[in-house]
Amino acid sequence: MSKNYKIAVIGGDGTGPEVIREGIKVLNAAAPKFGVKIEFTEFDFGAKRYLKTGETLPDSAIEDLKKFDAIYLGAIGSPDVKPGILERGILLKMRFALDQYINLRPVKLYQNVETPIKDKGPEDIDFVVIRENTEGLYAGGGGILREGTQYEVAIQESINTRFGVERCIKYAFEYTKKRNSKKKQLTLCGKTNVLTYAFGLWERVFNEIAKNYPDIKTDYAHVDAITMWMVKNPEWFDVIVTDNMFGDIITDLGAVVGGGLGVAAGGNINPEGVSMFEPIGGSAPKYTGKNVINPIAAILAGKMMMEHLGEVEMAKKIEESVQKTILKMKSMAAGKMGYSTTEIGDMIADSI
Ligand code: IPM
Ligand code: MN
Repeated sequence: MSKNYKIAVIGGDGTGPEVIREGIKVLNAAAPKFGVKIEFTEFDFGAKRYLKTGETLPDSAIEDLKKFDAIYLGAIGSPDVKPGILERGILLKMRFALDQYINLRPVKLYQNVETPIKDKGPEDIDFVVIRENTEGLYAGGGGILREGTQYEVAIQESINTRFGVERCIKYAFEYTKKRNSKKKQLTLCGKTNVLTYAFGLWERVFNEIAKNYPDIKTDYAHVDAITMWMVKNPEWFDVIVTDNMFGDIITDLGAVVGGGLGVAAGGNINPEGVSMFEPIGGSAPKYTGKNVINPIAAILAGKMMMEHLGEVEMAKKIEESVQKTILKMKSMAAGKMGYSTTEIGDMIADSI
């Protein structure tokens, strides 16, 4: 397998470029130790480019991005641009155009990271949410009629195809099978008691595919109930699979259970194409340029990227070094870490 990787870097908005810089620092420190070469190519998509040129992510850029092994993204979103333009124009466009149909979001509490969940520790909080990433309410189905009048009608439809649901659930079973956990359990999160069309399909497909995985325990939870269990009994979960909208919602809860947005990373994965890795916390504009934001989420996104590319040992080493550095930190919150953004990056890189 090739040990040379071409990575497209989109620092993006706000603190995005600051945290990605630390991520690259760590990847550059680790690469030579594992016989890996990484070539980074920067792209300037984000608010600044949009305000200057009116361009979000042009189709030509999608073609460019297809030539890379993976994409490393900081954050998209700026108070200077109307909400939705950059999110839809860049982030969602990338997920859809590159068919990154899996959004993989680990919820893992590291040692010395504080969780708001009372009496729960790292041994209790270690699960993964697999969110379908190209369909559901995000697919753009629906429309608006008589907009702005008293008679307006707004319809937002959830699109669920057998093809889309099947590939997501298959991925989730394979992921659960390979995941290094004792439980080997996959939970479907839905709303079969009300959204009977959409989650009826999810449930049927889930049960059909489960037959091929007799060693995996299966479970089901309604989305409202799961928000309660994730707080009360996070140790119940191993892998959760769900649709796009529910996955969006429960992974913010997951992030906070796992110690906050400072440590939460995710992967937007096309197993047959180009995947994108990002810290999921957003651009945190008020901290821009202050060197106080926590780069660990971005560094863990880099770790996930290497894991995805097959560099499992390198990923492990990065994670170990992150854990060592976390032991020295006061908090995961911006400005309260006891160290600056660049110092955290240095400490992790040095420990590698
Ligand atoms: C996320 C974000 C995005 C989403 C927004 C910014 C479009 O919340 O990655 O979870 O809704 O998917
Ligand atoms: Mn979200």
